[in-house]
Amino acid sequence: MCGIVGFTGTQQAAPILLDGLQKLEYRGYDSAGIAVLDGSGIQVRKTSGKISNLVEKTDGGRNTPGVTGIGHTRWATHGAPTDVNAHPHISNNGKYAVVHNGIIENYLELRRELIKQGFHFESETDTEVIVHLLEMYDQGDVRKAILKTAARLAGSYALGVLCADEPGTIYAMRESSPLILGIGAGENYFASDVTAIVPYTKNAVYLEDGEFARITPDRIEVFDPSGNPVQKKISRISWDIQAAEKGGYEHFMLKEIYEQPRAVKSALEPRIRDGEVVLDEFSCSAKYLHSIRKIIITACGSAYYAGCASRYAIEQLCGIPVDVELASELRYSEPLLDRHTLLIVISQSGETADTIAALKEGKARGAKVLAVVNVVGSTVAKLADWVLYTWAGPEIAVATTKGYTTQLTVLFLFALSTAKRLGRIPEDRYAALVRALTNLPRRVQQALDMNPSIPALAKEYYRYRSMFFIGRNTDYAAALEGALKMKEISYIHAECYAAGELKHGTIALIDDRQPVVAVCCNREIEEKTASNIVEVKARGAEVIAVAFRGDQKILSLADHVLSVPKTETIFSPLVAIIPLQLLAYYFARENGCDIDKPKNLAKSVTVE
Ligand code: G6P
Repeated sequence: MCGIVGFTGTQQAAPILLDGLQKLEYRGYDSAGIAVLDGSGIQVRKTSGKISNLVEKTDGGRNTPGVTGIGHTRWATHGAPTDVNAHPHISNNGKYAVVHNGIIENYLELRRELIKQGFHFESETDTEVIVHLLEMYDQGDVRKAILKTAARLAGSYALGVLCADEPGTIYAMRESSPLILGIGAGENYFASDVTAIVPYTKNAVYLEDGEFARITPDRIEVFDPSGNPVQKKISRISWDIQAAEKGGYEHFMLKEIYEQPRAVKSALEPRIRDGEVVLDEFSCSAKYLHSIRKIIITACGSAYYAGCASRYAIEQLCGIPVDVELASELRYSEPLLDRHTLLIVISQSGETADTIAALKEGKARGAKVLAVVNVVGSTVAKLADWVLYTWAGPEIAVATTKGYTTQLTVLFLFALSTAKRLGRIPEDRYAALVRALTNLPRRVQQALDMNPSIPALAKEYYRYRSMFFIGRNTDYAAALEGALKMKEISYIHAECYAAGELKHGTIALIDDRQPVVAVCCNREIEEKTASNIVEVKARGAEVIAVAFRGDQKILSLADHVLSVPKTETIFSPLVAIIPLQLLAYYFARENGCDIDKPKNLAKSVTVE
């Protein structure tokens, strides 16, 4: 939701904090601020709007000197995105500054208590209670004040704290929100994720919930919630700095769309050896595998649609029933799962609050958890019994693209490997599907190359304010994700319908004011979707179809056809989505939208 950074060293802190905030801007971008400690105390600069406003206000950091500081980019929850509500927040005596990602659930009662004690509140945020608690509990020992403050907080937080009494020191702590420490040479960092620190160091320490760190230029000390020192392992970050830069593309989203052949290959290649799918990471026993009666897939947003799209492959190949549930629904549904249920949890970030809650709910009811995650060391990865990493590299654009296609890749690998281990797939079918999987990176590249007309198509259609997306079965799953992409970044209303449901009401809304996007890559039922195309055309709608290259039937029916290369039906959502991502991108571009940072959305939703 929000992004936080901290730096201590000998260089000027503000430019490094601003650079880190720019990398974290995908997490929130309605206001931002920094607090820097110089000889005369804590200097705070904050402003509503994007980081670029803060860069301007601080003259690139030059008017905020000092070698120790913390920073924040906000996605408003409590209080409007104004200068006053922007972080850092500062204590009444000016001694403490705090940045926070997460939500303090008991802030109202704490606020009442602190007001009674005589503290004055500047903002409407939940965060401000933290800085006043620190002042209240300060008896000359910052560590003790932090421990006492943390003991009063309910909810989730990643916190950065600066204290005027301790020049050269920053504190960081986490509870159910992501936070990592970066270890440099004579300088150290904390950040919400690795993208903010990879330009400076590749050595990281991952904090656990409840832990807090005292960070100076030469030392990082980590403590448990009782204040006892904890020995931490230093991990090596594998992402490189170029991966977090735009590399000549106009937007991160376009760069990430074009990275998909490589990303899918990274997810695939190490797991296919000598014609066999090898999923070492899913190391369950054969006895356990045979005991699975049901699979429940849970996730949010596009990750949920990856679950919808992979369900067909898992059910058909493994012969195990699969339910796909939104994590925000599953967590409160008293779900029927037990030790015979495998819960598959999908999350790019591994930090989505509802997804984590659904995972915990499933575990509490006895299910084993297999996670499909991109971010190494994230909360979902830590809580799961097994993790299949998607190896997509950093995804910066808020609307996911390579995150989604690598999730599909990994889920297809899971389906195939599990079917084989269960003895439920004939050898020749298995070999054909392994070949089809191996070809997927090339197919994705072809899908990118086959559609040079999409920018022109967007120019023709971008003014429409409403669209329908239809498809059946695997095509329906791809259409769901295609419609979400369109809504997320172009703000055009895009309703997705299972094509067979059109006649149950929605067809009354079809006319020449809304184009219909029809996904027709499922050859087994293409005829049925073709009939739906005829029906919507009869009501005046223009049809943009997604179909396999050379599909004469669809070519003759649709107004425009976006082509994709032929692939196995169960894997087809992975290629069908490619032109739909590009379509959404160019519609948004024509509409002048802020593509990488769509309004009101955040990359990682770490609150409920
Ligand atoms: C947000 C993002 C979506 C993403 C969803 C789930 O809504 O904007 O792109 O699909 O969260 O995120 P996760 O990190 O759990 O995959």
